[in-house]
Amino acid sequence: MGVEIRVEGLTKSFGRQTIWQDVSLTLPAGEISVLLGPSGTGKSVFLKSLVGLLKPDRGHIWIGDKDLPYLPEHQLYETRKLFGVLFQDGALFGSMNLFDNIAFPLREHTKKSESEVKRIVMEKMELVGLIGAEHKLPGEISGGMKKRAGLARALVLDPAILLVDEPDSGLDPVRTAYLNQLIVDLNAQIDATFLIVTHDINTARTVPDNIGLLFRRELVMFGPREMLLSSEEPVVRQFLNARRQGPIGMSEEKDVSELEAEARMGLEVGKLPPIAPQLMPSDGRVRRAQQPPGAWCAAHGITPPPGSFVDDLGRNWAEEWPRYVAAMGPVASGHGQGGPQPAGGMH
Ligand SMILES: Nc1ncnc2c1ncn2[C@@H]1O[C@H](COP(=O)(O)OP(=O)(O)O)[C@@H](O)[C@H]1O
Ligand SMILES: [Mg+2]
Repeated sequence: MGVEIRVEGLTKSFGRQTIWQDVSLTLPAGEISVLLGPSGTGKSVFLKSLVGLLKPDRGHIWIGDKDLPYLPEHQLYETRKLFGVLFQDGALFGSMNLFDNIAFPLREHTKKSESEVKRIVMEKMELVGLIGAEHKLPGEISGGMKKRAGLARALVLDPAILLVDEPDSGLDPVRTAYLNQLIVDLNAQIDATFLIVTHDINTARTVPDNIGLLFRRELVMFGPREMLLSSEEPVVRQFLNARRQGPIGMSEEKDVSELEAEARMGLEVGKLPPIAPQLMPSDGRVRRAQQPPGAWCAAHGITPPPGSFVDDLGRNWAEEWPRYVAAMGPVASGHGQGGPQPAGGMH
């Protein structure tokens, strides 16, 4: 089961350079959240602060009654076991085959027998669609497979929290689509709290339950996907819709004259695009944390942009939802649902 993480007033600087300040957000238990932001805004620094690899200047990271930055070393060590992390580069050991790479945390942190280790490693390899690749070295496999192996290793201690740094970096759009599907499937199966860092807008628009945006050393907004995807806030709008018009410039921030020139030229940001339906687990079940399409907008009196929640086949998920859920039976709980489903092939 996932756990909730409550971040309050978190600030981090290196020397005189403030990376971000006063970041507050709650990662709801079992939900998928995405942290978006231009390159260099400190997304990776944020992930590393969450797991205690970097110490914030001030602020709190609450997990239950534990405030991570202020835990004594031995308690921090214990709390870290709640986390599975996939760093940006995958960080696989080049001289170890995939089996040994994935087994590494088990052999390091547990006293499990080799037969137990084997059972768990094979289970996680199946979960990420890597069966048959046990004996391959990282140098012999594609970027997408490396990410899958890194994910399997992050899952091996059954984390309550999974942090993934730019799963899509270095992958082509097709491989990214497979990996996004895998992330959604994993969330349905293991029910952990997910935080995914990315600057890929398509990932941000279709995968998560919640979206946050880091910009100009601040968390501009964090909340349910429909809140961000229907937001008129200029930075949020510009970023989520990949526009040139808006406050974000080529080198971080536009100056006043650039913004005035845009206004004179009548460059409008245009209409909000439709809110895409959220990716569903590949077996068609509903994730436990998943909200009905349109529910947030309806509860807040916001009319979603025309065409929202309509998929490629023309189905409107907001309308179909009640019938769909009724037909699918109980929502996926992540437990006792007939074991893991292999997610796609090897990519
Ligand atoms: N260990 C470190 N020491 C000093 N500066 C760092 C360190 N790690 C990151 N930074 C700086 O923090 C800023 C944010 O980096 P990063 O979190 O990697 O950005 P992002 O992941 O959003 O692209 C960058 O300016 C980077 O140079
Ligand atoms: Mg980064």
